[in-house]
Amino acid sequence: EAEWSLLPHGEASQIDGITLEKQTCSLWEKIWAFQARPDDLLIASYPKAGTTWTQEIVDLIQNDGDVEKSRRSPIQQRQPFLECTRCGRESLKPSPRWRKTRFGPFSCVIYVARNAKDNMVSYYHFQRMNKRLPDPGSWDEYFEVFLAGKVIWGSWFEHVKNWWRKKDSHPILYIFYEDMLKDPKREIRKVIEFLGKNLKEEVLDKIVYHTSFDVMKNNPMTNYTHDKHLNYKLSPFMRKGIMGDWKNQFTEAQNKKFNEDYEKHMADTSLTFCMEP
Ligand code: A3P
Repeated sequence: EAEWSLLPHGEASQIDGITLEKQTCSLWEKIWAFQARPDDLLIASYPKAGTTWTQEIVDLIQNDGDVEKSRRSPIQQRQPFLECTRCGRESLKPSPRWRKTRFGPFSCVIYVARNAKDNMVSYYHFQRMNKRLPDPGSWDEYFEVFLAGKVIWGSWFEHVKNWWRKKDSHPILYIFYEDMLKDPKREIRKVIEFLGKNLKEEVLDKIVYHTSFDVMKNNPMTNYTHDKHLNYKLSPFMRKGIMGDWKNQFTEAQNKKFNEDYEKHMADTSLTFCMEP
């Protein structure tokens, strides 16, 4: 913790009006030049929507449920973040490549979305414990910044709506965190079909078990331990893994303001979310 407290907070900058980590901005040309191959698979999401969960599911599917194989290295190495320093080197890797991204361009994409209220709460706690990102300030301050779309990676509304629109013209499997919680087996089956795999029922059950919250929380290859930028005393990476945690965080006034804003932002989309547990 002493080492963590000495680290500076990450700085933000902007590209086309979207707030990003300064480091991401400095790499933007390289990121933008990324060329997708036909057999690339991208896992896209707004931060804290269930990216790691989806990544682990995909890795286990690609390895036919071989748990040992999926524990070969931390998830961030098995499926690197496209918008990070390693992307130049990564693009030289042989096919097929799997990675996570927040923006595209893409060949074949699995997009995972989470209801805005829980997404915001999860993002706030993550920003508190993650020195790579700017200091989130108090919850009340963060609430306003998030609603204004000024957090890192911009507006939640634009992100989920844009990918929802794109799915009509691109091969995108759009899944929801809430559905994964409710019926993980059904949702994992969807991913298996999307990837064109044919796995036995017992393999599917094994994947459901190994990607459950408790198992992933205790798996050092998925729980982001040993990252010096993260302070586990403030919050674990695998924090709660539930729906409706926003009720413990939002004040009544915040909920009212949020609902009003939400209605305006979501008036032009058919996309709907489940927020009530
Ligand atoms: P909470 O902070 O609400 O607990 P990401 O991987 O996109 O950063 O998302 C992290 C969020 O997904 C965290 O939410 C984390 O606990 C949750 N999560 C990760 N794996 C999960 C799983 N197997 N089941 C349920 N939630 C999971």
